[in-house]
Amino acid sequence: MQLKNDLFLRAARGEKVERTPVWLMRQAGRILPEYRQVRAAAGDFKTLVKTPELATEVTIQPVDILGVDAAIIFSDILVIPEAMGLNYEMEERRGPVFPKRIATREDLKMLHVSEAEELQYVLDAIAMTKKHLSGKVPLIGFAGAPWTIFSYMIEGKGSKTFSDAKKMLYTQPEFSHQLLQMITDSTINYLKGQVKSGADLVQIFDSWAGILSPQQYAEFSLKYISQICDAIRDVPKTVFAKGAFFAREAMNSISCNVVGLDWNMDISESRRLVPGKVLQGNLDPCALYGSLADVKRETVNMLKAFGPDKHIANLGHGLYPDTEVDKVKCFIDTVKEYRHHG
Ligand code: CP3
Repeated sequence: MQLKNDLFLRAARGEKVERTPVWLMRQAGRILPEYRQVRAAAGDFKTLVKTPELATEVTIQPVDILGVDAAIIFSDILVIPEAMGLNYEMEERRGPVFPKRIATREDLKMLHVSEAEELQYVLDAIAMTKKHLSGKVPLIGFAGAPWTIFSYMIEGKGSKTFSDAKKMLYTQPEFSHQLLQMITDSTINYLKGQVKSGADLVQIFDSWAGILSPQQYAEFSLKYISQICDAIRDVPKTVFAKGAFFAREAMNSISCNVVGLDWNMDISESRRLVPGKVLQGNLDPCALYGSLADVKRETVNMLKAFGPDKHIANLGHGLYPDTEVDKVKCFIDTVKEYRHHG
C-alpha cells in the first residue's frame, strides 16, 4: 500500500525531505490515559502484548492522538528470550523478572533458536496494525540487541550494573559467544518475520551498550548487530546503542541506515564521527519536564544543531511515564512547524 506520509522512511533512507520527521521512543503506552484504559481492561502487560487487537489499538493511539510521523509496534524486547525457552514476567512497578535464568553451559539446553512463527502474536499484531493504519504513516518493527537480551537472560531482572552479565563475558567468553549467537539467529528469524508481516523499518535497541568497554562492545555486541543488519535487506535499519558514545565511529562499518543518539552525545561531534548515516534523536526526555516555552526552545536548538538533512527527531531515550501529554505534543508540533532557513 502507498504511504500517505512517508517522510520518516524517506529520511531514514537518507533522502531530502520537506521537514524533519518525528516520533518518540516509548510513545505507545506510558503517558496516554487512553493507553492506561486499554491496559487496565487487558489486566496485565503480557496479555496486552499477546492480544493482536489490543496491541494494534495502543500502537495506533499515538499516531491519532499525538500526530507522530511513524508508529512503533507495541511489544517488548523480552519476547525473544521467551520464544527461545526462557519465560519472563512483567511485575507491576518492578519491571521484568525471569523465574529461571541462564547461569551455566548446561542451562543452554533449556534454549533453542526460535523461529519467527513462535512469535506469531507479534507478526499478527504487525499485519493488523498495517491494515488499520491504511498507509497513514510507516510502521516500525523492533528487537533488542543480542547483548542487551543476553544481559537480561543472565541477570534474570533489571540491574544498574548488569555485573553478572559482564562477569560472564570476562570469565566465560566462549559460552557468552555461544548464547549471543543463538540470540542473534533467533532475532534474525524474528525481524525477517516482522518485515514479511509489514514492518517498514526495524530498530535494534541496545539499551545496555554503554556499560561495556569499547573493545568488549566490538567483540560482544556490535559484531552481532552487524550480522542482523546484513541479514535484513528489504527495509532500512536503525541501531540505537544507548550510552555507547565510544562506538559511534564503528557504526560507519555496519550496514544500518540510521544511528540513534542519546542526549549525552554531542550533535556536531556525532555528525563528524558518523558522516554517512542518518542520525536519530536526541532531546533529553527530562527536557519535557520544563515549561512549554522551555520545551519549544530546547527542541528548536536541537533541530538547528542537526540541520535540515539526515535527521529524524526523537528523544535520547524512551519517554518517562510521568511526562505531561501537552509537553509531548509541544515537542512534536515544534518539529512539525519548524523550517530550516538558508
Ligand atoms: O516504543 C514503544 O512505545 C513500543 C513499545 C516498547 C515497549 N518496550 C513497551 C513497554 C518498546 C520499544 C520496548 C523496548 C524495551 N523493553 C527496551 C528497550 C528500550 C529501552 O527503554 O531501553 C527495554 C530495555 C525493555 C525492557 C522493559 N520493558 C523494562 C525494563 C520494562 C519495565 C520498566 C519500564 O520501562 O516501564 C518494560 C515494560 C514495558 N515495555 C512497558 C511498556 C509500555 C511498561 C509496562 C506496563 O505498561 O505495564
